[in-house]
Amino acid sequence: MTPITDRLVFPATELFGRVEQQKTVLEKCHKRGIAKQIVHVTGLSGTGKTVLIKKVGEELLRKGILFIEGKFDQTGSRAPYSAVAAAFNEFITWVLSRDRTEFEQWKHRIVSALKEEAELLIDVIPDLIHITGPRPPVSPTSPMAEKNRFEYLFKRFIQALTLPENPFVLFLDDLQWADSSSMDLLRAICLDPKLNSFVIIGSCRNNDRYADNPWILLIDELEKKDHKGEITRIDLQPLAQHDVGEMLARIFHCDHDEVVPLTELVVNKTGGIPMLIKEFLLSLETKKILKKNGTGWTWDVRKTRYRSLLPGYAVWTAGSWIF
Ligand SMILES: Nc1ncnc2c1ncn2[C@@H]1O[C@H](COP(=O)(O)OP(=O)(O)OP(=O)(O)O)[C@@H](O)[C@H]1O
Ligand SMILES: [Mg+2]
Repeated sequence: MTPITDRLVFPATELFGRVEQQKTVLEKCHKRGIAKQIVHVTGLSGTGKTVLIKKVGEELLRKGILFIEGKFDQTGSRAPYSAVAAAFNEFITWVLSRDRTEFEQWKHRIVSALKEEAELLIDVIPDLIHITGPRPPVSPTSPMAEKNRFEYLFKRFIQALTLPENPFVLFLDDLQWADSSSMDLLRAICLDPKLNSFVIIGSCRNNDRYADNPWILLIDELEKKDHKGEITRIDLQPLAQHDVGEMLARIFHCDHDEVVPLTELVVNKTGGIPMLIKEFLLSLETKKILKKNGTGWTWDVRKTRYRSLLPGYAVWTAGSWIF
């Protein structure tokens, strides 16, 4: 297919080199009626944690499996439970879009589970009010009892949403930035032996800075307790050279063989981290080292300081390399 633009375009929906990982996550999310599952996705920044799980999420939604997501933020609001709230607000929006009969079924499940304490959850998931209606305030207790009551209520809420025949998948992204209240809640959820048909997918950077963050420590702890069977670890590595080659061949609409020298350079400069690959290619384009030329792309390393990385120079014109 001939591209219609002269700009560098990355295939929007295609993931390279992640077939196995996608399959693993999908399998976990398809299991029906089993104890909760925790899929722990780690990797350096830019290795593709978010995009992998979003892709899986699209597939799950297509198959009618509930998938909601929320992302913790490094710089944004420090409001506790922000990612959890975003995910469950998304769920509420979904419930509100159901037909009347299905909506009433969900409403019944949720209202019966939350009983007189719904207000506690509405504080955190404001859109819930559209299902429960306004609720009377709940009498205050000591901070510790309040925390326990909230966590217990949240687990009841999740139980109400999980149907044995249809797993419920919650994706929490960037857990290295989770606030301590969210971590306490997640801990309570992960340690609960009664939650079934519920999958938590948590993604987390695992570079030196975040290596011992609370989520990673929680996963280690769960493995040492009786939850080992519930945990699946996926540590995303940079792309292998072959996959980088595939990616470049798709970007430049050519055969794999034609991008071999460029692949070597890209792997050398980026270590195979997808985000860096994109940035590197864009910088080559900005510096006009990578140029559209007719139907193909030209790349002249003589103009670059990257020259020393390749023997001689290489120019790729209209689909072929000239040395
Ligand atoms: N396997 C892949 N194939 C093609 N593009 C990819 C792949 N993995 C990641 N990308 C692209 O690389 C960029 C970074 O991916 P992503 O944001 O998912 O990384 P991340 O691991 O979540 O990083 P961070 O820790 O910073 O959140 C995105 O533009 C994404 O589309
Ligand atoms: Mg990410």
